[in-house]
Amino acid sequence: MEVFIAGGTGFIGRHLSRYLLQRGFKVKVLVRRPERALVIPEGVTPSYGNPLVPGDWLHECARANVVINLVGTNIFARWTSKYKELIRESRLLATQNIVSVLSKGQLLLNASAIGFYGADRGEEEITEESAPGKDFLAKVCKEWEEAAFTARSQGVRVCTLRFAVVLGLGGGALSKMRLPFKLGLGGPIGHGKQWFPWIHIEDVCRIVTFLIEKKDLSGPFNLVAPGIVRNKEFAQTLARVWRRPALLPLPPRVLEIIFGELASLLTGGVKARPKRLLEAGYIFSFPELYSALQNLLKRKALIR
Ligand SMILES: NC(=O)c1ccc[n+]([C@@H]2O[C@H](COP(=O)([O-])OP(=O)(O)OC[C@H]3O[C@@H](n4cnc5c(N)ncnc54)[C@H](OP(=O)(O)O)[C@@H]3O)[C@@H](O)[C@H]2O)c1
Repeated sequence: MEVFIAGGTGFIGRHLSRYLLQRGFKVKVLVRRPERALVIPEGVTPSYGNPLVPGDWLHECARANVVINLVGTNIFARWTSKYKELIRESRLLATQNIVSVLSKGQLLLNASAIGFYGADRGEEEITEESAPGKDFLAKVCKEWEEAAFTARSQGVRVCTLRFAVVLGLGGGALSKMRLPFKLGLGGPIGHGKQWFPWIHIEDVCRIVTFLIEKKDLSGPFNLVAPGIVRNKEFAQTLARVWRRPALLPLPPRVLEIIFGELASLLTGGVKARPKRLLEAGYIFSFPELYSALQNLLKRKALIR
């Protein structure tokens, strides 16, 4: 079975392509900059092109049994109006280009985010049936998913992957948190009571194969571990695993100064549940945070 991954040179894509390759899938990854071909695992075939611009790469996309779309400009930067447009445009254009060549019998797994529900939903229990949020990222996720779901009218099975914060080695949130914790400056954000949805990268990879195999499943899925914690517990557990203190709460005002509008994503929280995955019978490898972090620590010493 052939899988084509756009955005496969990123953090999730690199883990996923290696995982799928090991499970016997033929994996092709779209590479927009030749130097990024170096990051794709051995055995994965590069396909060259810019996902935001139609080109020959779309032939590969049209041929694959499964297309996974992970393209998106990283959101961790100061959100100027120009940058916000790049966040939105990179996701929409890539999805629209991909959808334009898909046809009956193919499966599209399209990235989205728990940000679909908004940056802060307080104590509300959030499932796939919950209403979308109203802030900038929520609107982007909504448009992004709508663009993916248009492929349904072409006979394509479409699943959107509403990722929580993905925990894994070699990138993502943990690598950003490593330095402050190493310096003893890690800690909860503000009062730390906000919910912190997370998922282990191995579950992300297993959920992808689960969705490939379960042909009756489609629609949105919350990719979030059942053992969701509050921000303070997240910081304390990370500190315990990394054997570092987590004493200093980070004042939200500091984040606002550094990140501007993006700060609301870090100070808010969403108590998201993986309702549809659990109903479909998916069993998480890492439902609880402590064992998820211990596992990552065992795989590689995160602090050297
Ligand atoms: N990681 C998480 O915790 C998380 C949580 C929620 C949602 N998500 C979403 O899941 C997707 C994958 O996440 P990730 O962590 O793997 O992201 P990532 O490491 O930043 O990788 C993003 C991918 O998109 C490509 N890309 C970025 N900007 C682009 C642009 N302007 N034009 C064309 N291609 C561009 C990158 O190509 P290059 O390698 O060439 O730069 C890379 O292949 C993203 O859309 C992200 O928003 C991730």
